[in-house]
Amino acid sequence: MRIGVLTGGGDCPGLNAVIRAVTKSLIRQCEAEVVGIEDGFVGLTEGRTRSLEWRTVSGILATGGTILGTSNRVNPLASPAATEAVLAHARALGLGGVVAIGGDGTMSIARGLHDRGLPMVGVPKTIDNDIEGTDRCFGFDTAVAIVTEALERVQTTGQSHGRVMIVETMGRYAGWIALEAGLAGAADVILLPEIDYDIDAVVAVCREREQRQRYTVVCIAEGAKPRGGTLTISHRVPSSPDPVRLGGVGHVLREQLQPHLRSEVRTTVLGHVQRGGSPTAFDRVLATQYGNQAAALVREGRFGEMVTLRGGEYSSTLLTQVAGRNRCVPPGHPLLQCARQIGVSLGEAA
Ligand code: F6P
Repeated sequence: MRIGVLTGGGDCPGLNAVIRAVTKSLIRQCEAEVVGIEDGFVGLTEGRTRSLEWRTVSGILATGGTILGTSNRVNPLASPAATEAVLAHARALGLGGVVAIGGDGTMSIARGLHDRGLPMVGVPKTIDNDIEGTDRCFGFDTAVAIVTEALERVQTTGQSHGRVMIVETMGRYAGWIALEAGLAGAADVILLPEIDYDIDAVVAVCREREQRQRYTVVCIAEGAKPRGGTLTISHRVPSSPDPVRLGGVGHVLREQLQPHLRSEVRTTVLGHVQRGGSPTAFDRVLATQYGNQAAALVREGRFGEMVTLRGGEYSSTLLTQVAGRNRCVPPGHPLLQCARQIGVSLGEAA
């Protein structure tokens, strides 16, 4: 049996850990030949592959990025010619299936290719932690750790200079990173895409803290927006099928706040720092288990599924249940309640 492995979408800590585990498990448990597909679905469209052997994947557990390369916002299903190229290359390579490691876009493509006859297994990856059907995507824990450290570090400047320090995190549709890191990093205000913020409420928190504490730390997700306002777009890439690049809402918030405050307001946009480098121990274990589980699905012939972790149990779900959906922070989530109860503002009007 020959099985392909590819990584799609943005890079993420833990991708190499999955590649390592799925390869080793496929070789050991299924006696499979494993083929790495280069640069995600672009490589499959062009038939660019390399052999993945035991020694190729040894020593990569803790490394960042993906040894296979990836492609972002590319959809071979968007054109019949590209779809046919993918299917033809998969046939020519003799692939009995493909393990696709990626985010919501990758899972949607995997589902589409599976429906067109190429057996697919999915592994959920995104630092945003917003893939439907699983409680945890690998990469999220690492991103939360990085943002938490950043919040603690800017607090030092906030205290010393008496400033309002804004930290902008990733999180396009879902605010999981800002919420968990905001709580772990003792942010005073946490602003999420799921709750449009009331600028008067944020001003009130900062003013009140100016009297008592001298400084305020605000953690804001890139997809957050003011009530009645719009998303902050950093720039557009016209040649991309998904041309919008978010970023800069932390600067917008700074401009909104500054006229109302005595303290200087400063913004730090963390950007790709959150996705770079080595995964945490938690993400290494999660990615390893996901890779091993994906190989088990292949062994059992359970294609069309994505591996999951729900309520502490490893399992799987159908790609049809996942594709095209985002798992946002629900209004009644216990962490939102917790934040409110310990006096962290979520930017809600009084
Ligand atoms: O999906 C993860 C994510 O980190 C988003 O939060 C962010 O908007 C996006 O990727 C950025 O991707 P890119 O590096 O392609 O601009």
